[in-house]
Amino acid sequence: MEKELLIPRKTILAKVKELARRISSDYAEKEPILIGVLNGVVFFFTDLVTEMTIPSKIDFIRAASYGSNTSSSGSVRLTKDVEIPIQGKPVILVEDIVDTGLTLTKIVETLKQRDLESIKVCALIDKLERRDMDVTIDYYGFRVNEGFLVGYGLDHDEQYRYLPDIYTLK
Ligand code: IMP
Ligand code: MG
Repeated sequence: MEKELLIPRKTILAKVKELARRISSDYAEKEPILIGVLNGVVFFFTDLVTEMTIPSKIDFIRAASYGSNTSSSGSVRLTKDVEIPIQGKPVILVEDIVDTGLTLTKIVETLKQRDLESIKVCALIDKLERRDMDVTIDYYGFRVNEGFLVGYGLDHDEQYRYLPDIYTLK
């Protein structure tokens, strides 16, 4: 498959820094728990957390997502839960990309039952065209209308995650 450069690494990293600055200022004195949604988020997640200037804790959650095609199956299953205590804590859920919003809605619903101090959502990419669910993304890096994106953690059938830039798959 052909791929076309969409967001070069320099632009990604500048944006991640900007998000890290905003979150650090919003959560000063709070020590938030950042929860990453595996696997796609790991590149963005480590850059974000290490650019933040306040202490934080981290954990991960996993949701069964797309198979080998590029459209959502319509159902989301949590296959790995967090392992550190999050009750009463300020939580930031970190996602690579929000498409239909189904995955995010399901995870946020689940976490909201845990008596958190607060929950906010940070996503590197907010992809608008196929949004089904009414989701709030408190911090987003880039808004794109459409297309299937790969690289910087984003995959197509487990391929392309290792790419340092973000591409559109043609
Ligand atoms: P949603 O439930 O439709 O919002 O989809 C969320 C998940 O689908 C993301 O966490 C990604 O794993 C995957 N996904 C959606 N769009 C893309 C894309 O353009 N490239 C790579 N993965 C995507
Ligand atoms: Mg994902």
